[in-house]
Amino acid sequence: MVESNTLLAGVDIGSTMVRVVLAEAGGSQLDVIGVGSAPSLGVRHGVVVDADRLSSAVRQALGQAKMASGEQVDRATVSISGEHVNALQSQGAVAVEGREGTISSGDRQRAVDAARTVAIPFEHEILHVLPQDFDVDDQHRIQNPVGMSGVRLSSRVHIVTGGVTAVRNLVACVERAGLQVTDLVFSPLAAARACLTEDDLDMGVGLIDLGGGTTDAVCFQEGAVVRTHVVPIGGQQVTGDLAVCLRTSWNHAETLKRQFALSAEDALQVAGVADRTPERVDPADVWEICEARFEELFSLVAQGLDLQERTSPRAGFVLTGGGCQLRQAADVAERVLQTSVRIVTPEPRPGIGDGLAEPEWATAMGLVLSARDGRTTSSNELVTRFDATAGRMRSWLEGFL
Ligand SMILES: Nc1ncnc2c1ncn2[C@@H]1O[C@H](COP(=O)(O)OP(=O)(O)OP(=O)(O)O)[C@@H](O)[C@H]1O
Ligand SMILES: [Mg+2]
Repeated sequence: MVESNTLLAGVDIGSTMVRVVLAEAGGSQLDVIGVGSAPSLGVRHGVVVDADRLSSAVRQALGQAKMASGEQVDRATVSISGEHVNALQSQGAVAVEGREGTISSGDRQRAVDAARTVAIPFEHEILHVLPQDFDVDDQHRIQNPVGMSGVRLSSRVHIVTGGVTAVRNLVACVERAGLQVTDLVFSPLAAARACLTEDDLDMGVGLIDLGGGTTDAVCFQEGAVVRTHVVPIGGQQVTGDLAVCLRTSWNHAETLKRQFALSAEDALQVAGVADRTPERVDPADVWEICEARFEELFSLVAQGLDLQERTSPRAGFVLTGGGCQLRQAADVAERVLQTSVRIVTPEPRPGIGDGLAEPEWATAMGLVLSARDGRTTSSNELVTRFDATAGRMRSWLEGFL
């Protein structure tokens, strides 16, 4: 169990914003006690491109959260995403060593370890090893083999890897801002932790985190991760398209997009650049531009997830992340993915967490929840490798098995 009043910090390094959530965990309660955010100027499509600017954004967001909470914090669970994140499926098998052929948690762990000894892409390191299911001799697709009898135990796992340089740069930036990185969590897994119920996970659901510079997707089947994919396109590209097509500045286009998101019927005006006078824009034209980009985006998500009958989420998809504030995105997703799509947000939390029940806070909220889960797990079988400067990282998802 979590010791009483443990202080937890989640730092979501997004392409548009850095978001920090500080929470106090005690028993089953998690109170949000501080939040902070700052424009994330040093990140492009999830990858650090300016270490100084990112470190100062982290410092700024952290400063706000510390001030709100009145607490000091020196370690955090941090999100990671970007095109460098890859995934692969693997399998491994071991002979059961438990007493009288009964599978122990040690056997289970050895089977998972056997599956992780796979050739990972060059200059990549493992971020998560997520067990899917196990075979015990000729019995297949067992969710938890511990306590069963058998001779041979094999595991199927989903492995998420990250580019070594991208991972190190991210960790270094956060550390320069005065925080030790205790865990790195692939963004959509954190968002899933904040927004999905166990029923969603069991039935099979896909989560799409539509951010500013990346769209991250994860599919679950029977409580386990079966697919993950990153598309380096997000809401920023929608804004960029509006700016180009309507011949205005990026900032004006962003404002226009947000006005359209508030009300798709109201007349819109686009501010002209240089000496051009503002012009009226038909909302239908605005939507036509956004829709084209969303269609491309969801087609790439569908392609990247490569869903087959067994892995297609029975409960459909859910959308979260700031990009889905443009709610019509869900209609496009439904059409392209040919299944039901709904928008999800983190549930409101006690403390000052009410304002965090918005899609753009899903990842940051999920990070503190993952941090709490990490601390509640007692067995070292739940630990996965984290080689960077700071220590070890855990996979909360293993707790679902
Ligand atoms: N009210 C709104 N209406 C329309 N779009 C919005 C609104 N609020 C935020 N967005 C869009 O959401 C996107 C940012 O989403 P989010 O904050 O989840 O991204 P991020 O986490 O910083 O980036 P990423 O996850 O891609 O690295 C931006 O493109 C922004 O235009
Ligand atoms: Mg994000």
